[in-house]
Amino acid sequence: MEDAYGRTIDYLRISITDRCNLRCKYCMPKGACLVSRREILTLEEIQAATIAASSLGIRHIKVTGGEPLVRSGCCELIRRLKSIPGIEKVTLTTNGILLNRYLEALDQAGIDGINISLDTLEPERYREITGRDGLKEVLSGMEKAILLGIPVKVNAVSIDWEGKGEDWMALARLAERYPVDVRFIEMMPIGYGRDFKPFDHRELFEGLREAYPGLEADERVHGPGPAVYYRIPGFKGSIGLISAMHGKFCGSCNRVRLTSQGYLKTCLCYEDGADLRKVLREGQEEFSDKCQEGEHWKWKYRDCPDDAGLQRRLRETIVQAVKKKPAMHCFEQPDKITESRFMAAIGG
Ligand code: GTP
Ligand code: 5AD
Ligand code: SF4
Repeated sequence: MEDAYGRTIDYLRISITDRCNLRCKYCMPKGACLVSRREILTLEEIQAATIAASSLGIRHIKVTGGEPLVRSGCCELIRRLKSIPGIEKVTLTTNGILLNRYLEALDQAGIDGINISLDTLEPERYREITGRDGLKEVLSGMEKAILLGIPVKVNAVSIDWEGKGEDWMALARLAERYPVDVRFIEMMPIGYGRDFKPFDHRELFEGLREAYPGLEADERVHGPGPAVYYRIPGFKGSIGLISAMHGKFCGSCNRVRLTSQGYLKTCLCYEDGADLRKVLREGQEEFSDKCQEGEHWKWKYRDCPDDAGLQRRLRETIVQAVKKKPAMHCFEQPDKITESRFMAAIGG
Protein backbone atom coordinates (compact mmCIF):
# COMPACT_ATOMS: atom_id res chain seq x y z
CA MET A 1 0.00 0.00 0.00
CA GLU A 2 1.32 3.45 -0.87
CA ASP A 3 0.37 6.69 0.82
CA ALA A 4 0.03 10.09 -0.85
CA TYR A 5 3.76 10.77 -0.37
CA GLY A 6 4.84 7.56 -2.12
CA ARG A 7 5.76 5.80 1.11
CA THR A 8 5.15 2.06 1.14
CA ILE A 9 3.11 1.07 4.17
CA ASP A 10 3.91 -2.52 5.10
CA TYR A 11 4.14 -2.40 8.90
CA LEU A 12 1.15 -2.54 11.25
CA ARG A 13 1.58 -2.03 14.98
CA ILE A 14 -1.32 -3.54 16.92
CA SER A 15 -2.03 -2.62 20.52
CA ILE A 16 -3.99 -5.56 21.91
CA THR A 17 -4.73 -4.06 25.32
CA ASP A 18 -4.29 -0.74 27.07
CA ARG A 19 -3.78 -2.53 30.40
CA CYS A 20 -0.37 -2.97 31.92
CA ASN A 21 1.21 -4.59 34.96
CA LEU A 22 3.63 -1.65 35.36
CA ARG A 23 3.02 2.05 35.91
CA CYS A 24 5.84 3.74 34.05
CA LYS A 25 5.92 7.43 34.83
CA TYR A 26 5.99 8.54 31.23
CA CYS A 27 3.50 6.03 29.91
CA MET A 28 0.78 5.02 32.35
CA PRO A 29 1.32 6.44 35.81
CA LYS A 30 -0.96 5.52 38.71
CA GLY A 31 -4.44 6.83 38.19
CA ALA A 32 -4.39 6.77 34.39
CA CYS A 33 -7.89 5.76 33.32
CA LEU A 34 -8.46 2.57 31.41
CA VAL A 35 -11.28 1.90 28.99
CA SER A 36 -13.83 -0.82 29.69
CA ARG A 37 -13.17 -4.21 28.15
CA ARG A 38 -16.15 -3.94 25.81
CA GLU A 39 -14.34 -1.11 24.04
CA ILE A 40 -11.37 -3.31 23.21
CA LEU A 41 -11.23 -5.35 20.00
CA THR A 42 -11.72 -9.08 20.36
CA LEU A 43 -9.01 -11.39 19.08
CA GLU A 44 -11.23 -12.28 16.12
CA GLU A 45 -11.70 -8.62 15.29
CA ILE A 46 -7.94 -8.06 15.37
CA GLN A 47 -7.53 -11.09 13.14
CA ALA A 48 -10.14 -9.76 10.69
CA ALA A 49 -8.46 -6.34 10.52
CA THR A 50 -5.07 -7.97 9.96
CA ILE A 51 -6.38 -10.17 7.13
CA ALA A 52 -7.61 -7.01 5.39
CA ALA A 53 -4.35 -5.18 6.07
CA SER A 54 -2.22 -8.04 4.77
CA SER A 55 -4.23 -8.20 1.56
CA LEU A 56 -3.25 -4.54 1.11
CA GLY A 57 0.45 -5.20 1.55
CA ILE A 58 1.09 -5.24 5.30
CA ARG A 59 4.00 -7.66 5.90
CA HIS A 60 5.19 -6.93 9.43
CA ILE A 61 3.07 -6.99 12.55
CA LYS A 62 4.14 -5.64 15.91
CA VAL A 63 2.00 -6.76 18.83
CA THR A 64 2.10 -4.17 21.61
CA GLY A 65 0.01 -2.98 24.56
CA GLY A 66 -0.19 -1.58 27.27
CA GLU A 67 1.49 -4.84 28.11
CA PRO A 68 0.43 -7.42 25.52
CA LEU A 69 1.17 -10.43 27.73
CA VAL A 70 -1.45 -9.42 30.31
CA ARG A 71 -4.10 -10.18 27.73
CA SER A 72 -4.94 -13.85 27.82
CA GLY A 73 -4.95 -15.22 24.31
CA CYS A 74 -1.94 -13.14 23.28
CA CYS A 75 0.08 -16.20 22.17
CA GLU A 76 -2.93 -17.67 20.39
CA LEU A 77 -3.43 -14.37 18.58
CA ILE A 78 0.22 -14.36 17.49
CA ARG A 79 -0.20 -17.89 16.16
CA ARG A 80 -3.25 -16.80 14.17
CA LEU A 81 -1.58 -13.65 12.83
CA LYS A 82 1.44 -15.70 11.73
CA SER A 83 -0.80 -17.93 9.66
CA ILE A 84 -2.34 -15.06 7.65
CA PRO A 85 -1.10 -15.23 4.05
CA GLY A 86 1.28 -12.37 3.31
CA ILE A 87 2.33 -11.77 6.91
CA GLU A 88 6.09 -12.34 7.07
CA LYS A 89 7.00 -11.35 10.60
CA VAL A 90 5.10 -11.02 13.84
CA THR A 91 7.08 -9.51 16.70
CA LEU A 92 6.22 -8.43 20.23
CA THR A 93 7.08 -5.40 22.33
CA THR A 94 6.76 -6.19 26.03
CA ASN A 95 7.93 -4.92 29.40
CA GLY A 96 9.29 -8.44 29.99
CA ILE A 97 7.72 -9.05 33.41
CA LEU A 98 5.69 -12.05 32.18
CA LEU A 99 8.20 -13.32 29.65
CA ASN A 100 9.36 -16.32 31.67
CA ARG A 101 5.78 -17.53 31.91
CA TYR A 102 4.95 -17.15 28.23
CA LEU A 103 8.20 -17.67 26.35
CA GLU A 104 7.60 -21.24 25.39
CA ALA A 105 4.09 -20.50 24.15
CA LEU A 106 5.41 -17.49 22.23
CA ASP A 107 8.11 -19.62 20.67
CA GLN A 108 5.58 -22.27 19.72
CA ALA A 109 3.30 -19.61 18.25
CA GLY A 110 6.20 -18.68 15.96
CA ILE A 111 7.17 -15.26 17.34
CA ASP A 112 9.88 -13.69 15.16
CA GLY A 113 11.36 -11.29 17.70
CA ILE A 114 10.84 -9.76 21.12
CA ASN A 115 11.54 -6.17 22.14
CA ILE A 116 11.88 -5.66 25.87
CA SER A 117 11.32 -2.23 27.39
CA LEU A 118 13.98 -1.65 30.02
CA ASP A 119 15.10 1.87 30.90
CA THR A 120 17.68 1.10 33.58
CA LEU A 121 19.67 -1.73 35.16
CA GLU A 122 19.55 -0.10 38.61
CA PRO A 123 16.90 -1.86 40.75
CA GLU A 124 16.03 1.31 42.71
CA ARG A 125 15.64 3.39 39.61
CA TYR A 126 13.66 0.62 37.94
CA ARG A 127 11.18 0.78 40.81
CA GLU A 128 11.12 4.55 40.65
CA ILE A 129 10.22 4.52 36.95
CA THR A 130 7.88 1.54 36.79
CA GLY A 131 6.29 1.65 40.24
CA ARG A 132 7.38 -1.89 41.19
CA ASP A 133 10.26 -4.35 41.41
CA GLY A 134 10.81 -6.60 38.47
CA LEU A 135 14.26 -6.13 37.07
CA LYS A 136 15.30 -9.71 37.91
CA GLU A 137 12.29 -11.22 36.13
CA VAL A 138 12.88 -9.05 33.08
CA LEU A 139 16.55 -9.97 32.82
CA SER A 140 15.91 -13.67 33.28
CA GLY A 141 13.17 -13.51 30.65
CA MET A 142 15.62 -11.83 28.32
CA GLU A 143 18.24 -14.54 28.90
CA LYS A 144 15.71 -17.29 28.35
CA ALA A 145 14.52 -15.74 25.09
CA ILE A 146 18.12 -15.57 23.88
CA LEU A 147 18.64 -19.24 24.79
CA LEU A 148 15.56 -20.13 22.76
CA GLY A 149 17.16 -18.36 19.79
CA ILE A 150 14.53 -15.63 19.58
CA PRO A 151 15.96 -12.29 18.31
CA VAL A 152 15.83 -9.85 21.24
CA LYS A 153 16.04 -6.06 21.36
CA VAL A 154 16.09 -3.88 24.45
CA ASN A 155 14.26 -0.53 24.39
CA ALA A 156 15.42 2.19 26.77
CA VAL A 157 13.73 5.56 26.76
CA SER A 158 16.55 8.04 27.33
CA ILE A 159 15.29 10.06 30.27
CA ASP A 160 17.36 13.00 31.44
CA TRP A 161 18.19 12.16 35.06
CA GLU A 162 21.19 12.40 37.31
CA GLY A 163 23.71 9.66 36.61
CA LYS A 164 22.10 8.87 33.27
CA GLY A 165 25.47 8.50 31.52
CA GLU A 166 26.50 5.54 33.67
CA ASP A 167 23.07 4.01 33.40
CA TRP A 168 23.09 4.18 29.62
CA MET A 169 26.58 2.74 29.37
CA ALA A 170 25.48 -0.18 31.55
CA LEU A 171 22.51 -0.73 29.24
CA ALA A 172 24.72 -0.45 26.15
CA ARG A 173 27.03 -3.08 27.61
CA LEU A 174 24.16 -5.58 27.56
CA ALA A 175 24.95 -5.75 23.84
CA GLU A 176 28.52 -6.71 24.71
CA ARG A 177 27.49 -9.62 26.94
CA TYR A 178 24.48 -10.79 24.98
CA PRO A 179 23.48 -10.98 21.31
CA VAL A 180 20.82 -8.29 21.79
CA ASP A 181 20.32 -4.93 20.13
CA VAL A 182 20.10 -2.16 22.71
CA ARG A 183 18.10 0.81 21.46
CA PHE A 184 17.75 4.21 23.03
CA ILE A 185 14.52 6.10 22.36
CA GLU A 186 14.06 9.85 22.54
CA MET A 187 11.07 10.67 24.70
CA MET A 188 8.16 11.83 22.55
CA PRO A 189 5.56 14.38 23.75
CA ILE A 190 2.66 11.93 23.57
CA GLY A 191 0.50 11.29 26.62
CA TYR A 192 2.47 11.62 29.84
CA GLY A 193 5.66 11.89 27.79
CA ARG A 194 4.75 15.57 27.43
CA ASP A 195 5.81 16.18 31.02
CA PHE A 196 9.39 15.09 30.25
CA LYS A 197 12.14 16.97 28.55
CA PRO A 198 13.45 14.89 25.65
CA PHE A 199 17.12 14.12 25.85
CA ASP A 200 18.98 15.03 22.69
CA HIS A 201 20.41 11.87 21.17
CA ARG A 202 23.22 13.79 19.50
CA GLU A 203 24.70 14.11 22.98
CA LEU A 204 24.13 10.43 23.71
CA PHE A 205 25.76 9.54 20.40
CA GLU A 206 28.83 11.65 21.24
CA GLY A 207 29.07 9.93 24.62
CA LEU A 208 28.93 6.52 22.96
CA ARG A 209 31.55 7.50 20.40
CA GLU A 210 33.86 8.79 23.10
CA ALA A 211 33.51 5.58 25.10
CA TYR A 212 33.80 3.40 22.00
CA PRO A 213 35.92 5.07 19.32
CA GLY A 214 35.51 1.98 17.11
CA LEU A 215 31.74 2.61 16.85
CA GLU A 216 30.63 2.35 13.23
CA ALA A 217 27.36 2.44 11.28
CA ASP A 218 25.58 -0.90 11.01
CA GLU A 219 23.68 -0.91 7.73
CA ARG A 220 22.05 -4.32 8.21
CA VAL A 221 18.25 -4.35 8.43
CA HIS A 222 17.30 -5.26 12.01
CA GLY A 223 13.55 -4.89 11.66
CA PRO A 224 10.88 -2.68 10.12
CA GLY A 225 11.21 0.03 12.79
CA PRO A 226 12.92 3.44 12.64
CA ALA A 227 16.09 2.70 14.66
CA VAL A 228 19.51 3.62 13.24
CA TYR A 229 22.09 1.02 14.24
CA TYR A 230 25.77 1.07 15.18
CA ARG A 231 28.27 -1.69 15.81
CA ILE A 232 30.96 -1.69 18.45
CA PRO A 233 33.97 -4.00 18.00
CA GLY A 234 33.71 -6.96 20.38
CA PHE A 235 29.97 -6.48 20.98
CA LYS A 236 27.61 -9.34 20.18
CA GLY A 237 24.65 -7.05 19.49
CA SER A 238 24.26 -3.59 18.01
CA ILE A 239 23.31 -0.24 19.52
CA GLY A 240 20.27 1.48 18.03
CA LEU A 241 19.07 5.05 18.24
CA ILE A 242 15.41 5.93 17.78
CA SER A 243 15.64 9.69 17.56
CA ALA A 244 12.12 10.80 16.78
CA MET A 245 12.81 14.34 18.03
CA HIS A 246 16.31 15.16 16.80
CA GLY A 247 16.54 12.71 13.91
CA LYS A 248 13.09 12.83 12.37
CA PHE A 249 12.50 9.71 10.29
CA CYS A 250 9.02 10.44 8.93
CA GLY A 251 10.22 10.60 5.31
CA SER A 252 10.74 6.85 5.39
CA CYS A 253 7.71 6.03 7.52
CA ASN A 254 6.29 2.61 6.65
CA ARG A 255 3.71 2.12 9.38
CA VAL A 256 0.22 2.56 10.71
CA ARG A 257 -1.18 1.61 14.09
CA LEU A 258 -4.27 -0.13 15.34
CA THR A 259 -5.22 0.98 18.84
CA SER A 260 -6.65 -1.44 21.35
CA GLN A 261 -10.05 0.14 20.64
CA GLY A 262 -9.80 -0.55 16.94
CA TYR A 263 -8.86 2.88 15.66
CA LEU A 264 -6.45 2.82 12.74
CA LYS A 265 -4.00 5.63 13.49
CA THR A 266 -2.00 6.89 10.57
CA CYS A 267 0.57 8.86 12.55
CA LEU A 268 1.67 8.78 16.17
CA CYS A 269 1.30 12.54 16.41
CA TYR A 270 -2.28 13.10 15.24
CA GLU A 271 -5.78 11.78 15.77
CA ASP A 272 -6.18 11.16 12.03
CA GLY A 273 -7.25 7.71 10.95
CA ALA A 274 -10.31 5.50 10.71
CA ASP A 275 -12.55 3.66 13.11
CA LEU A 276 -12.17 0.01 12.13
CA ARG A 277 -14.15 -1.13 15.15
CA LYS A 278 -17.18 0.62 13.72
CA VAL A 279 -16.75 -1.33 10.49
CA LEU A 280 -16.12 -4.56 12.36
CA ARG A 281 -19.18 -4.20 14.57
CA GLU A 282 -21.58 -2.77 12.01
CA GLY A 283 -24.86 -4.67 12.18
CA GLN A 284 -23.72 -6.55 15.27
CA GLU A 285 -26.45 -5.21 17.58
CA GLU A 286 -26.22 -8.15 19.90
CA PHE A 287 -22.61 -7.45 20.52
CA SER A 288 -23.01 -4.98 23.33
CA ASP A 289 -25.86 -6.93 24.94
CA LYS A 290 -23.58 -9.87 25.37
CA CYS A 291 -20.61 -8.08 26.68
CA GLN A 292 -20.04 -7.97 30.35
CA GLU A 293 -17.01 -6.81 32.17
CA GLY A 294 -14.61 -9.74 32.46
CA GLU A 295 -16.12 -11.86 29.73
CA HIS A 296 -14.50 -10.06 26.87
CA TRP A 297 -11.75 -12.55 26.21
CA LYS A 298 -14.18 -15.40 25.72
CA TRP A 299 -16.21 -13.77 22.97
CA LYS A 300 -16.27 -15.10 19.51
CA TYR A 301 -16.76 -12.73 16.65
CA ARG A 302 -20.01 -13.76 15.02
CA ASP A 303 -18.79 -13.24 11.49
CA CYS A 304 -15.92 -15.24 10.15
CA PRO A 305 -12.86 -12.94 10.18
CA ASP A 306 -12.44 -13.43 6.43
CA ASP A 307 -16.09 -12.87 5.50
CA ALA A 308 -15.90 -11.32 2.00
CA GLY A 309 -18.22 -8.37 2.64
CA LEU A 310 -16.53 -7.45 5.89
CA GLN A 311 -13.11 -7.73 4.29
CA ARG A 312 -14.10 -5.43 1.43
CA ARG A 313 -15.43 -2.79 3.82
CA LEU A 314 -12.31 -3.02 5.94
CA ARG A 315 -10.02 -2.69 2.91
CA GLU A 316 -11.89 0.37 1.64
CA THR A 317 -11.67 2.03 5.03
CA ILE A 318 -7.96 1.26 5.44
CA VAL A 319 -7.08 2.52 1.94
CA GLN A 320 -8.97 5.78 2.50
CA ALA A 321 -7.21 6.37 5.81
CA VAL A 322 -3.74 5.60 4.45
CA LYS A 323 -4.29 8.06 1.58
CA LYS A 324 -4.60 10.79 4.19
CA LYS A 325 -1.59 9.74 6.27
CA PRO A 326 0.19 12.92 7.44
CA ALA A 327 3.61 13.71 6.00
CA MET A 328 5.37 14.00 9.35
CA HIS A 329 4.96 14.62 13.02
CA CYS A 330 5.05 18.09 14.59
CA PHE A 331 6.48 17.16 17.98
CA GLU A 332 8.58 20.32 17.91
CA GLN A 333 5.34 22.39 17.89
CA PRO A 334 3.37 20.86 20.78
CA ASP A 335 0.26 23.00 20.23
CA LYS A 336 -0.19 21.35 16.83
CA ILE A 337 -0.16 17.78 18.17
CA THR A 338 -3.74 16.53 18.02
CA GLU A 339 -3.21 13.09 19.60
CA SER A 340 -4.61 13.05 23.11
CA ARG A 341 -4.45 9.32 23.88
CA PHE A 342 -1.79 8.11 26.26
CA MET A 343 0.95 5.83 24.96
CA ALA A 344 -0.42 2.66 26.53
CA ALA A 345 -3.57 2.98 24.42
CA ILE A 346 -1.53 3.48 21.26
CA GLY A 347 1.21 0.92 21.81
CA GLY A 348 4.25 3.11 21.25
P1 GTP B 1 11.59 -3.34 15.31
O1 GTP B 1 12.26 -2.74 14.14
O2 GTP B 1 10.95 -4.63 15.05
O3 GTP B 1 12.47 -3.43 16.47
O4 GTP B 1 10.36 -2.39 15.68
P2 GTP B 1 10.16 -0.97 16.33
O5 GTP B 1 11.42 -0.32 16.70
O6 GTP B 1 9.26 -0.24 15.42
O7 GTP B 1 9.31 -1.39 17.60
P3 GTP B 1 9.17 -0.98 19.12
O8 GTP B 1 7.77 -1.37 19.48
O9 GTP B 1 10.23 -1.59 19.92
O10 GTP B 1 9.27 0.58 19.15
C1 GTP B 1 10.41 1.24 19.62
C2 GTP B 1 10.14 2.72 19.74
O11 GTP B 1 10.04 3.27 18.45
C3 GTP B 1 8.86 3.09 20.47
O12 GTP B 1 9.12 4.13 21.38
C4 GTP B 1 7.96 3.58 19.40
O13 GTP B 1 7.07 4.56 19.88
C5 GTP B 1 8.98 4.17 18.44
N1 GTP B 1 8.39 4.20 17.12
C6 GTP B 1 8.03 3.14 16.38
N2 GTP B 1 7.45 3.56 15.25
C7 GTP B 1 7.45 4.92 15.30
C8 GTP B 1 6.95 5.93 14.46
O14 GTP B 1 6.34 5.69 13.46
N3 GTP B 1 7.12 7.21 14.82
C9 GTP B 1 7.72 7.55 15.95
N4 GTP B 1 7.85 8.82 16.21
N5 GTP B 1 8.19 6.62 16.81
C10 GTP B 1 8.05 5.33 16.49
N1 5AD C 1 8.26 8.44 24.00
C1 5AD C 1 9.06 7.47 23.49
N2 5AD C 1 8.90 6.16 23.74
C2 5AD C 1 7.91 5.82 24.56
N3 5AD C 1 7.52 4.61 25.00
C3 5AD C 1 6.43 4.79 25.79
N4 5AD C 1 6.13 6.10 25.89
C4 5AD C 1 7.04 6.76 25.14
C5 5AD C 1 7.25 8.14 24.83
N5 5AD C 1 6.47 9.10 25.31
C6 5AD C 1 8.19 3.37 24.63
C7 5AD C 1 8.18 2.28 25.68
C8 5AD C 1 8.33 1.04 24.85
C9 5AD C 1 7.95 1.44 23.46
C10 5AD C 1 6.87 0.64 22.86
O1 5AD C 1 7.53 2.79 23.54
O2 5AD C 1 9.21 2.42 26.61
O3 5AD C 1 9.67 0.57 24.82
FE1 SF4 D 1 5.45 8.01 10.67
FE2 SF4 D 1 4.11 9.81 12.10
FE3 SF4 D 1 6.00 8.19 13.20
FE4 SF4 D 1 6.66 10.20 11.56
S1 SF4 D 1 5.71 10.35 13.61
S2 SF4 D 1 7.51 8.14 11.54
S3 SF4 D 1 4.98 10.10 10.07
S4 SF4 D 1 4.03 7.59 12.33
